Amino acid sequence: MSTDSHESVHPAAGAAEVSVTQSATADAPATTHAPSPSDWIEKDRQYVWHGLVPYTASQNPMVVSRGDGAWLTDEAGNRYLDGMSGLWCANLGYSEKRLADAAYAQMTEMPYYPLSQTHKPAIRLAEKLNEWLRGDYRVFFSNSGSEANEVAIKIARQYHQQNGEPSRWKVIGRYRGYHGNTSAALAATGQFMRKYKYEPLAPGFLHVPPPDCYRCPFGQQPGSCNLACANYYEQVINWEIPETVAAVILEPVISGGGILTPPEGYLRRVREICNRYGVLLIVDEVICGFGRSGENFGHHNFGVQPDIVTMAKGITSGYMPLAATAVRAELFDPFRDDSEYGHFRHVTTFGGNPTACAVALETLAIMEERGLVARAKVLGERLRQRLSVLRDCPNVGDIRHFGFLAGIEMVADQASKTPAPPAMLAEVITWCKQRGLLIGKNSDSVRGYNNILQLCPPFILTDDEFDFLADTVVEAVQRLG
Ligand SMILES: Cc1ncc(COP(=O)(O)O)c(C=O)c1O
Repeated sequence: MSTDSHESVHPAAGAAEVSVTQSATADAPATTHAPSPSDWIEKDRQYVWHGLVPYTASQNPMVVSRGDGAWLTDEAGNRYLDGMSGLWCANLGYSEKRLADAAYAQMTEMPYYPLSQTHKPAIRLAEKLNEWLRGDYRVFFSNSGSEANEVAIKIARQYHQQNGEPSRWKVIGRYRGYHGNTSAALAATGQFMRKYKYEPLAPGFLHVPPPDCYRCPFGQQPGSCNLACANYYEQVINWEIPETVAAVILEPVISGGGILTPPEGYLRRVREICNRYGVLLIVDEVICGFGRSGENFGHHNFGVQPDIVTMAKGITSGYMPLAATAVRAELFDPFRDDSEYGHFRHVTTFGGNPTACAVALETLAIMEERGLVARAKVLGERLRQRLSVLRDCPNVGDIRHFGFLAGIEMVADQASKTPAPPAMLAEVITWCKQRGLLIGKNSDSVRGYNNILQLCPPFILTDDEFDFLADTVVEAVQRLG
C-alpha cells in the first residue's frame, strides 16, 4: 500500500478533524484550535495499540511532547526528569542537536541503501564497535535488540553446521532474562508472563535458574555457594548431550528482569563451561552496553570475551532504530564457503541504515569526548551510596546496582521476603511522578515477582539533577514506613 492511500483513506480522518474544528456559521470561516491534551488522548484511545500496559492503564497515557536534556514535557506542560532513559536507551537525553545534525547530513548525502552492498557509515561504525569492544569482531547490523538476538542465534546454529557439528542447535537462556519479543528471542527469554498465550515459540530453547543471590534458587548463601548457579549450566549441557548444545545466551546482568547481579566469578565460570563443551557464549548487551555498566560493555566488568555480542538501544541513544550482532572474527571462517548454503542467508531492509549508523557514530563520538562512560560509573557509585540508606526500610528487601543501573526489590517485610504487592510499587512510582520524576519497575516478567523498582537514568544528569533523582527516590520509599 502506498503512503498516500494509507493516509487518505483512513476511515476516521474526517471525525478527527471535527473534534478540533469550531462550528462555522455561514458568514464566518471555521476557526481551528490546537488539539488539547485530552483530544490527543482520545485519538490515542481510538488508534494506538500500546503493549505491556493493562487495558485500563492504557486509557490515560502520558502524551510526551518535548525533550530537553534529561527532561520530558508532556502535552499538558508537566515536566519530568526521566529516570529510565525512555526504555533504557536515551543515555544522552532528549535534545542532543549533534545527533539531529548527523542524521540530517547523512540523509541529505545518502539516506538509504541496504547492506546487501555496503556504505561508509556502516563500515566506520563496525570499525568503531571493534574499538569499543576491544576485540576482533565482524558486525551484522539490524534494527532492534530482538533482531540482534535472532541473528546471533541463527549465526550460532549455522556456525556449528558449517563447522561439521550439525546436531548443535539448542540454546540455553535463563529464567527471568529477557532477549526480545520475536519468536526465537522470546523463546530464549525466561520471563514467562511475556510468553503466555503466544506459545509455541521457536523450538530448541532451555532455561537455567538465574543468579539471584537474594532468592538463591539453590538455597545457597553468597560467598559459600561455589557458584552453584553457574555450575548448573554444566549439568544441563551434559544432560542434554553436549553435542546438541549450540549456545548459551545471557545478559551480563539481568536488567529488565530485576537487575539481578551475579555472584563474583559467575560469568568467568560460565565462559569456562562453554569452552569445555564447545558451546558459544552470546552476551546480550542491549541494555548493559555503551557505558551503562560503567565500562564500555557489561562483560568488560567480568574479564570474559564473548563469542557473540548483541547490542541496540544506547548505540544511538535511542534516536534511531539500530542494532548490531558482533561475532568473533574466527567464527566467520566457516562462513567463507561458496557452496549454495554456505553463507549467512539473512537480509534486512533497514538494518544498518546509513542514517542510523551516522547517528550511532555521533553518539559514540559524544560519549568519548565527554567521558560519559566514566561519568556513568561515577554516578552509579554515587547512586549506590545514596540508596544505601534504604536498606533499613522494612519494605526494602535488596538493593542491586550495575554501573548506573539500580534495582530496589520491594517486599512485604524483610523477614519473609514476600514480594511487595503491586499497589506498593505503584504508590512509589506515582509519588515520584507527582514530584516530576519518572522511575520504572519490572513488569509482566515472572508471575509474583514484578516487585523491583528500577532506575536507568541518562548519563548527562547534572549534579543537581542527580540529587533531585536520588532524594526523590529515597523519600518515596522511606515514606512507606
Ligand atoms: C536485554 C535485552 N535484550 C533484548 C531486548 C530487545 O530489544 P528491542 O526492544 O529493541 O527489540 C531488550 C529490550 O528491552 C533487552 O532489554
